[in-house]
Amino acid sequence: ALISDFGKTVVAWQRRHGRHTLPWQNTRDPYRVWLSEIMLQQTQVVTVLGYYERFLARWPRVTDLAAATLDEVLAMWAGLGYYSRARNLHGCAKAVAELHGGEFPRSAAGLQTLPGIGRSTAAAVAAFCFGERVAILDGNVKRVLSRVLAFDGDLSSSAAEKALWNHATELLPAQDVDRYTQGLMDLGATVCTARSPNCLICAVQPLCRGQHEGEPTRFPVKTRK
Ligand code: ADE
Repeated sequence: ALISDFGKTVVAWQRRHGRHTLPWQNTRDPYRVWLSEIMLQQTQVVTVLGYYERFLARWPRVTDLAAATLDEVLAMWAGLGYYSRARNLHGCAKAVAELHGGEFPRSAAGLQTLPGIGRSTAAAVAAFCFGERVAILDGNVKRVLSRVLAFDGDLSSSAAEKALWNHATELLPAQDVDRYTQGLMDLGATVCTARSPNCLICAVQPLCRGQHEGEPTRFPVKTRK
């Protein structure tokens, strides 16, 4: 199997074996997708579920969240941790309301100008909501891609991180980047896990260099700084 089949293989696997019923799926509302992506950055899905529903019940639209006080947002965020996310969440809602007429920018480049939205989060929202053909590279995707490529650059270095971003862009399928993006996340969460990747059931095993070299958990390489 060829690495050029990676994108299509992930798309086909996601269709059949990926997650399809998480509450932030099956919507193209950037407010809902953005809220989920910020909550999921450092928190497990099971923990996020309750917070996500409570936030949306209290603040159904981004302009509602923008009209809340920071203290109200921090109180609702209590227990999720990494409180700079809550400050940025409120700052981002205010920026969308006050600088963008209440509508999220409809491109990854535009989204990345907002507080708390980095390159990968911007790409995830743009792919899921607008079908933009852009790569994500969060922690789980770094693991999956570095294994598939047997990429042995040290991801503590910005040069290696930049090289992996370039690889991530080259691996994008021509079509279905929304499903591909969800597929990478699902593969990282359910098959290509940190400690015990299940290569025996993995759809991309035939083209995975890390697995072929016999030691997929050698990747990603990260010297602690
Ligand atoms: N983690 C980050 N984004 C996610 C998503 N869309 N679905 C599941 N887990 C995620």
